[in-house]
Amino acid sequence: MAGGTTEGAPPRAPKVLLGVAGGIAAYKACEILRLLRSAGADVIVVPTPNALKFIGAATFEALSGHPVATDVFTDVPHVAHVATGQQADLVVVAPATADLLARAAAGRADDLLAATLLVTRAPVLMAPAMHTEMWTHPATVENVQRLRQRGLTVLDPAVGRLTGADSGAGRLPEPDQIVALALLLLRRPDALPRDLVGRRLLVTAGGTREPLDPVRYLGNRSSGKQGFAVALVAAARGAQVTVVAANTALIGPPGATIVPVADARDLQARVTELVTDADAVVMAAAVADFRPKVIVASKIKKDNRSEPAALELVTNPDILAGLAADRAGPGSGPAQRPGMPVIVGFAAETGDEHGSVLDHGRAKLARKGCDLLVVNGVGDGRAFEVDDNAAVILAADGSDPIDVPLGPKTVLGAVICDELSRRLSTVDAAL
Ligand code: PMT
Repeated sequence: MAGGTTEGAPPRAPKVLLGVAGGIAAYKACEILRLLRSAGADVIVVPTPNALKFIGAATFEALSGHPVATDVFTDVPHVAHVATGQQADLVVVAPATADLLARAAAGRADDLLAATLLVTRAPVLMAPAMHTEMWTHPATVENVQRLRQRGLTVLDPAVGRLTGADSGAGRLPEPDQIVALALLLLRRPDALPRDLVGRRLLVTAGGTREPLDPVRYLGNRSSGKQGFAVALVAAARGAQVTVVAANTALIGPPGATIVPVADARDLQARVTELVTDADAVVMAAAVADFRPKVIVASKIKKDNRSEPAALELVTNPDILAGLAADRAGPGSGPAQRPGMPVIVGFAAETGDEHGSVLDHGRAKLARKGCDLLVVNGVGDGRAFEVDDNAAVILAADGSDPIDVPLGPKTVLGAVICDELSRRLSTVDAAL
């Protein structure tokens, strides 16, 4: 993470400048501020004068521990806009209103936030929120395009309830999604290029549940966090993302389509249908290899038996291997078409007497036939349910393995997106 150390001194907390523009979503900036502080960032809040009509300066000062100013005439001897702009490791603007986007696109400096945006050379992450008509107005569309062309990350807003009775595109993305992307940019300032615009990405996430009776199921510990992290990063890089989500309550990234599924066969049906429109598939879901042979229609009773009845299992279809085999042809299945999708699998592995995590990963890559296999060690609290992950990405074409050390799941998501971007460009060139 940006911040760094000088020998002997404790690591410096990364400096984040949180710009807040004047919209009803300004109250959510308090949650963003809190989450950034909990992640160890030193946050200076720069609201616009209109933002202070929604939230008092005292709230931002109390939560950040820093004084709050809105114009360049406060603290003149220290030239606040130059100092804060120069010192920031990252600038986050949330919410970014239509007016703020317009002023930033035009390079204006008519309040402290706009002036700071001109001074800073740090990565800038903007999370817009406004009414749908304002978001889709050609002026805003042009402003967003200009800002993105200049290298700023401007997220798409979420779709949902707006002010009054309206709903549509224009809601602020979830605070935890904004913060996840902010923390990613602090670690890797180059992690969110617009290199996946026009690419259609299908991601699976979560864990399947194989029913045994109306009450019980065979399941696993997947929370969906890793798959959703890939989806979040890909959407921020411009991809059109569909997530086939098994049993997770996580909220999808702005603009993504979420397709809920329950069990492995359900997941297979949806993936088979949706892969026809995908340029790349990332199978991060934990899919049950086996399911109960019989689904009992009513709850299985204990019946005063001392021994439970044995559970008979049957094998589920291997969805990933099926996609890869279908693509390899000859045939006419969903993955068989020009510009066939890049297929990425995950492997949740433990080492044992037969080999290490990586040995099992290499064997799985050969068995599954996908292009890339993201091998993550599991057990002892690793990978499942937590926010961080470590992995080695193996490639079927013999490219060097990519080691992704322990870090936020978005960091692994960004490395997967780098590979997808590179491979999709190669596919384009070959067509
Ligand atoms: O969701 P989180 O809590 O964030 O946890 C993330 C994770 C640990 C679930 C994720 O990082 C991960 O490892 N996902 C793959 C889990 C898994 O099913 O691994 P596997 O080694 O059993 O399967 C290998 C691959 O085959 C996977 O891409 C899986 O989606 C696919 N598969 C497996 C079985 C099956 N019947 N069909 C499949 O397509």
